[in-house]
Amino acid sequence: MTSAKIIIDKNEYEFPLITGTEQERAIDISSLYAQTGCITLDNGFQNTGACASAITYIDGDKGILRYRGFDITELAEKLTFVETAYLLIYGTLPTIDQKSVFSRHLTENSMLHEDMTHYFVGMPPHAHPMAILCAMVNSLSIFYPHSFIDDDNPAVFDLIAARLISMIRTIAAFSYKKSIGEPFVYPRHDLRYCMNFLNMMFSSPVKPYECDQEAERVLNKLLILHADHEQNCSTSTVRLVGSSMVNLYASVCAGICALWGPLHGGANQEVIEMLEDIHRKGHSVQDVIAMAKDKNNSFRLFGFGHRVYKNYDPRAKILKDACSSFLSGRSMNDPLLDIALELEELVLRDEYFIERKLYPNVDFYSGILYRALGIPASMFTVMFAIGRMPGWIAQWREMHDTKPFRIGRPRQVYVGSAHRSLP
Ligand code: SDX
Repeated sequence: MTSAKIIIDKNEYEFPLITGTEQERAIDISSLYAQTGCITLDNGFQNTGACASAITYIDGDKGILRYRGFDITELAEKLTFVETAYLLIYGTLPTIDQKSVFSRHLTENSMLHEDMTHYFVGMPPHAHPMAILCAMVNSLSIFYPHSFIDDDNPAVFDLIAARLISMIRTIAAFSYKKSIGEPFVYPRHDLRYCMNFLNMMFSSPVKPYECDQEAERVLNKLLILHADHEQNCSTSTVRLVGSSMVNLYASVCAGICALWGPLHGGANQEVIEMLEDIHRKGHSVQDVIAMAKDKNNSFRLFGFGHRVYKNYDPRAKILKDACSSFLSGRSMNDPLLDIALELEELVLRDEYFIERKLYPNVDFYSGILYRALGIPASMFTVMFAIGRMPGWIAQWREMHDTKPFRIGRPRQVYVGSAHRSLP
């Protein structure tokens, strides 16, 4: 069947059925208003596709996640974050030469304009790193004003993409140094992407950072797992803002703002604070689960549930294993991991969660790994943003390449006052 029929007031209308690579189907309602005078209404866009995309595929029922057709488990095991970023943005695995050029672009664009460091002077030490990230990423368009995509000169896009992927890492590390009152550690040209970040975070004039290959491997895995996730809240924001033809810096800055929300990327910080509460205040896991089920209580079990996954989030599975192996490999014992494992075990057996298909999502275990790396909870969503940057850029580029290019402008059903005159 290649079409869908809708009957309104006894009139029958036909609309094409679109079938995706994995046989998922959509009703193309592009002509709905023109044909019927009706629009659709879909709170939270639960049933609405905003675009056709070739970047990421999720099967929520089977717990499948693929970037450009490659399964996330394979990518997390075999690729680096830089290779994954290239794959997402350019659609193919980089050749040796392409990887060398891309890495060089990242290296050459890792330093912030020195005047940007003065921004940090005026910021209070307790400033949330996500607020700093929003301010600094948007400010990149002040220092690098030639930021409009020139289709005749793809090198402009390549440069802006490399600048964002590289500099978000520097901004994040500088915000951490600012918060602990230590001098900034500048990026180095001799370190790979993740090791450079760890060095900027944990090196100091009195104690240089000892490069830790295992930590570098775990950080690569964390960033790969966060790199893209089809049309989630922040990526949809980047696409919508980008559709006004504003520059890429402003578009991803809007994505950073959307990601900050506790229902989205901010959940990883909420999870750790929830686990710390249980640990420090002696709350029982059962009490927390009861609160989450209580309709009179606004408390949510952060790190559980997902709009698309109605099965175990494949990223959570990878992170759960990584937590156990990384911590045991260092003979580290984090009581929060024990609480998380107990919480997961009880939730997966609880009818309320089973009925609603609520499973651990990417945010449930990620914070435990970030903690083990020495990264503070206030930085967790910033880490999510560093990982998601290549996905936002890839989706923004795909949106720009979609013809005919159209500004995103949803409709509404008006339910306010009928026409009335001023008294
Ligand atoms: C991310 O979209 C993406 O791809 C996002 C992301 C990405 O990579 O970009 O995967 C990253 O944002 C992961 C999600 C992180 N957020 C959290 O962990 C916050 C806690 N989770 C929930 O707030 C919720 O599950 C959402 C926001 C993730 C999904 O919300 P939905 O799809 O709108 O689901 P819903 O609110 O309609 O919930 C359906 C039912 C409700 O109960 P009933 O009204 O049917 O009785 O499930 C309940 C909800 O009350 N429910 C929860 C719950 N999540 C849903 N109850 C308790 N605890 C929870 N966490």
